[in-house]
Amino acid sequence: MNSIIDNRYKSLLIRTNLNIELKTSPARYYSKENSRWATIIFEKPDGTQIKRKGKVGDKIQEVVGINDPDFCGYGACDGTLSCSTCHVILSNEDIKKYGEADGEEADLLDYAPSATNNSRLGCNIEIVPEMDGIILKLPDTVNDLRD
Ligand code: FES
Repeated sequence: MNSIIDNRYKSLLIRTNLNIELKTSPARYYSKENSRWATIIFEKPDGTQIKRKGKVGDKIQEVVGINDPDFCGYGACDGTLSCSTCHVILSNEDIKKYGEADGEEADLLDYAPSATNNSRLGCNIEIVPEMDGIILKLPDTVNDLRD
């Protein structure tokens, strides 16, 4: 036990002596240790942010539980690409990284209110480890297009 502490202390001293600056990004917390889960931050139109943990490989829409009171009506069609209630808006940087909507998703977004060029449907975005800390804006207006 003491040798573990000693080694950590030595490591700290070496880093301190080498004057290595650890840089962290406030928007991304990705590390190998938490590569199976990613924190997804949903931002409401009023700027309120809600954090949820999503499992790598799941869809963004699955991060929000059914009947979650913070996300009334979100994911109403349960990921069958027919309602558009899982509409999220990515930053310019993230839309380049994860891609624009196309095909059926783009067709549905054509009818979604408040859609932008950076809009995606959460049920069509797979969570990858690099998404940890991503901010997804929620649109002003959401309509269930099945109605
Ligand atoms: S959950 Fe309905 S379109 Fe995504």
